[in-house]
Amino acid sequence: MLLVTGACGYIGSHFMHYYLAQAANRDQSLVAIDNLLLGHKESISPDIESRVHFYQCDIGDKKALGEILQKHSVHAVVHFAASAYVGESQEKPFKYFDNNVFQSLSFFESLLMAGVRKVVFSSTCATYGMPVRTPMDENHPQSPINTYGVTKLMVEEALRALALASGLSYVLLRYFNAAGASPSGLVGESHAHETHLIPLALAAALGGGEPLKIFGNDYDTPDGTCIRDYVHVDDLAAAHLLALKLFERDKMPEKATLADSNGLGAAFNLGTARGVSVMEVLKTIESVAGLAVPFSFASRRAGDPSRLFADAGRANNVLGWQPRYGLSDIVETALHWEKHRRY
Ligand code: UFG
Repeated sequence: MLLVTGACGYIGSHFMHYYLAQAANRDQSLVAIDNLLLGHKESISPDIESRVHFYQCDIGDKKALGEILQKHSVHAVVHFAASAYVGESQEKPFKYFDNNVFQSLSFFESLLMAGVRKVVFSSTCATYGMPVRTPMDENHPQSPINTYGVTKLMVEEALRALALASGLSYVLLRYFNAAGASPSGLVGESHAHETHLIPLALAAALGGGEPLKIFGNDYDTPDGTCIRDYVHVDDLAAAHLLALKLFERDKMPEKATLADSNGLGAAFNLGTARGVSVMEVLKTIESVAGLAVPFSFASRRAGDPSRLFADAGRANNVLGWQPRYGLSDIVETALHWEKHRRY
């Protein structure tokens, strides 16, 4: 059985729904862990409730993990649980070292003690830091510029070390800008303190939020606003399922292991390879939703690179992953969620 951590968070919840919807066997279930500090129990909607063995606990709770792993025959793990606000990670770095690094290490120890050796890890393009070239491939230097990115890179390194020391197999998925919501309307983005562009722009357009502040219009980009690579959250979910299938192969695919240089694991960028500016996002909202986004220009936000977009060729070649959704779909599904939020 599959174990999912951070299962009630934004990406974890979409993966949970996607995984169960794709299962050939309709009785297929999974084990879900979330401490519910930021996750939403409502994401385990009535249609999937009977197929989710849910545990409210910290991933670093060795006793709880020991019991869960003893009760269920877990063959692999998708590890989403983490604190994920870049700004907060600068204000409270130790919270991020604790939640993202120490808790993950304790969790991996619990896994190894129970003989679980397959981990798909939720990583980020923030591990690269300031781009020295775009599009960014997986061999781009990793030099994070905030504590969030540092902690994710530390876990990547820990997985490499554990692969060498303990025979653990892992896949690293480095997301670019996760966005959108499930077309089912059952799950979507719901952060207690929202910082992301698309939900803030939609809230402003719908009149439920402050006018959007665009952080900087003097960047070296065609319209002066920052360029990012927005990837639909269900496309991310699909990549995790494909990553899990790698474990079924006899060994990691050659292309991936070569690029990863240690011969044990693999890292994959998950983005659309299409860079879109903040102004283009606003225009898409106008054309898809027929809503103007009230905005004003503000000064640059510290640590924002002017452009970030992925070379996702390896995910395509090795995993067979291809994003299905474009920016209009992202806006459409996010808008539907904003209007009909379940939580
Ligand atoms: N932006 C605004 N106004 C806002 C919010 C965002 O102009 O109110 C701009 C940002 O300056 C940026 C773009 O919109 O240019 C996207 O910003 P987000 O905050 O939505 O996303 P980020 O690119 O900052 O963050 C994403 C992920 C992080 C990851 C980071 C790596 O959400 O998890 O990329 O750079 F760490």
